[in-house]
Amino acid sequence: MQIPLVSMPLLARVYDIAFGSFGKNDLSFVSEVLQRLPEGLHVDLGCANGRALEPALRQGRKVFGIDYSHDMTEMAKKRFAAAYPRQAHFETGDFRTTNLPDKVALFSCLLNTWFMIPSISDRIALLRRCKEHLVTGGIVLIINVNNPTGDPSYYGFEKFVEGIGNVKFDVDWQQGVTIESILQRRGKMTISIDGEEESHQLNNVLLTPSQFEAEVRDSGLRVFQKFGSFSKQSLDALNSEWQIYVLEN
Ligand SMILES: C[S@@+](CC[C@H](N)C(=O)[O-])C[C@H]1O[C@@H](n2cnc3c(N)ncnc32)[C@H](O)[C@@H]1O
Repeated sequence: MQIPLVSMPLLARVYDIAFGSFGKNDLSFVSEVLQRLPEGLHVDLGCANGRALEPALRQGRKVFGIDYSHDMTEMAKKRFAAAYPRQAHFETGDFRTTNLPDKVALFSCLLNTWFMIPSISDRIALLRRCKEHLVTGGIVLIINVNNPTGDPSYYGFEKFVEGIGNVKFDVDWQQGVTIESILQRRGKMTISIDGEEESHQLNNVLLTPSQFEAEVRDSGLRVFQKFGSFSKQSLDALNSEWQIYVLEN
């Protein structure tokens, strides 16, 4: 039996409802990027329910998703089992330590998942490992949305969702603190479905572009492209809303 590393059954059920609006634009970018990459796998680090792997599957690529929540990888497996029975593989594990497959055209780490890696050495080691597993011409794509300031903030809703029930979703961020020059913020996410509740402590580092880019240089990868805002339809300048990094060997 597989041991759930992080249990999040309620979050897995409401994931698309809770985060769909944040994610809707990054997938068109992923799809576009994939079209100009050589043959190879798309590997998503922290894949949650697998939503980011759909464009690669549609393009006929094999995909591999890693998440330390068994509830999430099970959702991802179910999502693609019928349409892509042989193309999609998922593993429950910590992407800092799990084996990575070879011949990867695209490693992605989306929706602030990169900010969930607390230690500098782990972030650099992971970039190095990604580098080793890329095909020639392959890339690492890291997208952070809503580059936060560390100020307190709140995101939430309450609504009835057909097939799920009464969903209440809250994310409360507290004031950020600076530890060894890196801004960090802590928060709490609470999900309730028909009165049943689950909550998760959130702990993110908030790397500035220059801090992030210094770590990329240490890994031996290089920042190939960086982009700014999706909502303003401008992908030509780095701004505080989106940080999209394309890294290559
Ligand atoms: C903010 S969500 C983003 C999910 C997904 N990348 C997306 O774009 O929808 C972060 C996900 O990464 C997973 N995660 C965070 N750190 C991880 C780690 N070290 N190893 C594996 N999964 C991790 C969490 O379980 C969660 O599902």
